[in-house]
Amino acid sequence: MRTPIIAGNWKMHKTVSEAVETCRVLDQLVQDSNVEVVVCPPFTALSALSALGMSKVKLGAQNMCTEVSGAYTGEISVSMLRDVGCQYVIIGHSERRELFGETDEMVNTKTLLALKHDLLPIVCVGETLTQRKAGETESLVVGQIEKAFANLSCEQAQKVVVAYEPIWAIGTGETASSVEANAVIVTIRQTLDRLYGTDVAQQIQIQYGGSVKPANIGELMEQSDIDGALVGGASLLPEDFAAIVHYHR
Ligand code: 13P
Repeated sequence: MRTPIIAGNWKMHKTVSEAVETCRVLDQLVQDSNVEVVVCPPFTALSALSALGMSKVKLGAQNMCTEVSGAYTGEISVSMLRDVGCQYVIIGHSERRELFGETDEMVNTKTLLALKHDLLPIVCVGETLTQRKAGETESLVVGQIEKAFANLSCEQAQKVVVAYEPIWAIGTGETASSVEANAVIVTIRQTLDRLYGTDVAQQIQIQYGGSVKPANIGELMEQSDIDGALVGGASLLPEDFAAIVHYHR
């Protein structure tokens, strides 16, 4: 069985002291949970959160560079993330793709690089509203998955976490219905099955993201193939995020 994984993507929110205070409370609140809990703060807070020595909450980054080191002003490398205590890294978030020109090829390069350095990638895919209305959701998402997983071995593929985030549901308060979200996630798993076989496809954790909150997480998690959530806004308050982690109560 796949262990559920609930990750918080704080995006560009929280100073170091705010991040520390949030995680101090959060780590206490989720102690008894048996799901994996990850927080992805801004880069500037990673070091302080690592020093907190949280027992339950794991750390992730929101992005990383395609290169290992060198003259890349403003970038952060995979080894820097490992060094500061990250276990996860979000790759190819729609905001990176839309606002910062990240391509499927870059997503693939970063995914391979993260795995090579024992950092677990959370690879994001998802369609725009226009693409959904044009009936292109499945073909678009399948294409994103095929490109993100290009040249990954079975052993590497099973370490990847996939996050299906329909762009129209991010930060809008609009969620894909749990049935709609599950249908796309089933398609993603079928694609992984075709690429890597059933054993690997059944192991890969696939999250849903887009306006997840305490009120809708239960229904999402009841679906056959949804293994967790990538949470934006509702991960900023420790009480809300803990309520999402405790969806089964
Ligand atoms: P919201 O939960 O704020 O809609 O954000 C989702 C998201 O983009 C997580 O990566």
